[in-house]
Amino acid sequence: MRGLAVLGSTGTIGTFTLEIVEKFPEQFRVLSLAAGKNIESLRKQIVKFRPKIVSVEAFDSVSLLSQDFPDVTFVSGKEGLEACIDQDGVDTVVVGVVGFAGLSPALHAIRRSKRVALANKESLVVGGSLLKAELEKSDAELIPVDSEHNGLFQLLLGKKREEIASIVLTASGGPLWKRKDLPLEDVTPQIAIKHPNWNMGPKISVDSATLMNKGLEVIEAHFLYGYSAEKIEVWIHPQSIVHSAIWLTDNSCMAQLTKPDMKSSIGYALTYPERLAEVIPRFSFKDMASLEFYEPDHKRFPCLEIAYETLRRGQSAVIALNAANEIAVEAFLQGRILFPDIPKVIERALSRHRSVSVDNLDTVFAIDAETRAKELSS
Ligand SMILES: NC(=O)c1ccc[n+]([C@@H]2O[C@H](COP(=O)([O-])OP(=O)(O)OC[C@H]3O[C@@H](n4cnc5c(N)ncnc54)[C@H](OP(=O)(O)O)[C@@H]3O)[C@@H](O)[C@H]2O)c1
Repeated sequence: MRGLAVLGSTGTIGTFTLEIVEKFPEQFRVLSLAAGKNIESLRKQIVKFRPKIVSVEAFDSVSLLSQDFPDVTFVSGKEGLEACIDQDGVDTVVVGVVGFAGLSPALHAIRRSKRVALANKESLVVGGSLLKAELEKSDAELIPVDSEHNGLFQLLLGKKREEIASIVLTASGGPLWKRKDLPLEDVTPQIAIKHPNWNMGPKISVDSATLMNKGLEVIEAHFLYGYSAEKIEVWIHPQSIVHSAIWLTDNSCMAQLTKPDMKSSIGYALTYPERLAEVIPRFSFKDMASLEFYEPDHKRFPCLEIAYETLRRGQSAVIALNAANEIAVEAFLQGRILFPDIPKVIERALSRHRSVSVDNLDTVFAIDAETRAKELSS
């Protein structure tokens, strides 16, 4: 039985993880839960899963919960997330926290030699080289939960590096791909977060609409699997059945396919090298005839190309890109900027950024903080 710490338990990834636990109770025990601000949803999870320790983002929320659950330890903040990872019996940590906040717990879980089921892509984007260096020093296992990277993990198993010519990520295209009639100035947060295939939190949904999600995933794939920007292809595939593919040197191609349901890749990250029986339903081969593939439209959605260029500039610029994107998405969700302003904010931040070498966590935090401060004051 695996002992789980579920970080970001009230979010989409956290909720899917807990659905898997409910479906396979003999395989998992939830020992720690960590959430942000959604105290009511967290309360229900505590009743159902009886964790030993629970972390919340702000200390104030601890008193709202502690008197109702005297057997549970309540903690908060960054130290709270670390205490959830350090809880006795935790061998597997699901990092489903959104944004830059996922970096510290991901790093801590690696240093503690846990299996890390990593959904939080931003941590790999901003701290890819540091996470890889820590992985080499520990017995931790990092298994990506992002469906494309989880697919690549499965495709690359047992392959020799010399066999692989390039790797392919697919992108659904998000809610705007088929809305060419809609001027981007008229895209509201409600339209942008209504994803056609995936049920996701607001930040990643907006990233999906701008195609920055795929840009972050190109960077994530680079750090996970060591391929340069030139060897990572992206194809728009609105049905989200084919998640990723690898081109082999003899020009044969292997792809990974499932119905679009994150429980497939979460389940595999939890149980690898085993598989959970029928964790999701099968797709039908009848649907294959209607699968579509298109080249990305870089003119209408410039964020993907910006991410490729930034990856070529190096880790320091990538940290600035991530911070500027988080600021811009938040501003858009709050109605302070328009949808087409998102790439403009990111390009402005990148034009101001002066690259430095990134060999420790303090530098990552410094670049992130400096970029946020400059953009917030603009
Ligand atoms: N959803 C997907 O299908 C999907 C697919 C691939 C990758 N991902 C990645 O997985 C991550 C999570 O995505 P999501 O869609 O699940 O996001 P989400 O629904 O917005 O959930 C985010 C979770 O993080 C928690 N959280 C936020 N800040 C926190 C903090 N400082 N400390 C502790 N917890 C905090 C939130 O808590 P509250 O809600 O309680 O405030 C919530 O539980 C993202 O990095 C995303 O890119 C998601």
